[in-house]
Amino acid sequence: MKKEQLKREIRQMCKDKNAVILAHYYTDGEVQDIADFVGDSLALAQSAAKTEADIIVMCGVGFMGETCKILCPDKKVIVPDEDAGCSLADSCKAEDLKAFIDEHPGYKVVSYVNTTAAVKALSDVVVTSSNAMKVVETYPKDAKLIFGPDRNLGSYINRMTGREMLLWDGGCHVHGRFSLEGINQLKKEHPEAKVLVHPECPVEIQKVADEIGSTAGLLKFAINDEAQEFIVATESGILHKMQEACKDKTFYPAPPMCGEGEKCPLENVCQYMRMNTLEKLHAALRDEKPEVFVSASLAENALRPIQKMLRTPSPLPLKGQK
Ligand code: 13P
Ligand code: SF4
Repeated sequence: MKKEQLKREIRQMCKDKNAVILAHYYTDGEVQDIADFVGDSLALAQSAAKTEADIIVMCGVGFMGETCKILCPDKKVIVPDEDAGCSLADSCKAEDLKAFIDEHPGYKVVSYVNTTAAVKALSDVVVTSSNAMKVVETYPKDAKLIFGPDRNLGSYINRMTGREMLLWDGGCHVHGRFSLEGINQLKKEHPEAKVLVHPECPVEIQKVADEIGSTAGLLKFAINDEAQEFIVATESGILHKMQEACKDKTFYPAPPMCGEGEKCPLENVCQYMRMNTLEKLHAALRDEKPEVFVSASLAENALRPIQKMLRTPSPLPLKGQK
């Protein structure tokens, strides 16, 4: 089927079935363009929590579909591809976290939203990169906290708040592979460009940042800052919205490293996010599957920490750091 017909039918099915399409900034531009709402992890969860649609199509990755279902148990939540996973969520298995918690009695558990429902169910509070700092700061300075699974976001919050949270040693393969050498080279070629960095990136990349923030925070910075050029160290799907919102500004995706100091010819793309294609979105709406299910007991235990995340006021940009 031709793209234009696919798009027409997707929008028609949304109307007929009272369905809403939510898409993360890391999905392909054409998926973002057809969605009813595009946002970062926090905004997507907030949007799911308040939708009146009967069907929610989550164009993102597995944990986002689960979060939607936990927030909206009476709605049908479908995803275009049930194999769209997340390397960061995979880096923290619930049974391993449970053992770690048992080794550290008296600690509260702060979990990033990029986790399975089972990990959320073990947590006291869930955070996203948009509100992590603010949520952590609701605890007394000397509170005993475990933060997981992203070690880079956790160490960033420790540095910014002077805390010593125990950090889970997990990470995202996309944010973990930016090339510092490649960014420095781009800076030489474009000396006026400001460097925008997601806090899931390692500290050496954070150190060259003009702004560190969630995807929504970086987009906001690009819109409001007077700079005309930006080097962007996060998944390159966000460039679609940056370019759309700032027609006269120029955005350069920060280059990835393939390993062993070699420069990679690929863009920094999350292959899981890009599994959300227009064709699969069309099929998912037509067949109303794959549907997301979360067991009642997991959902019950995961709901409270997710609701705490939604109660923390937003937007809460992380502070910029030179
Ligand atoms: P945010 O949407 O919170 O910026 O997180 C980035 C991410 O990696 C989502 O999977
Ligand atoms: Fe997970 Fe990284 Fe992909 Fe985000 S970009 S969904 S953290 S693998």
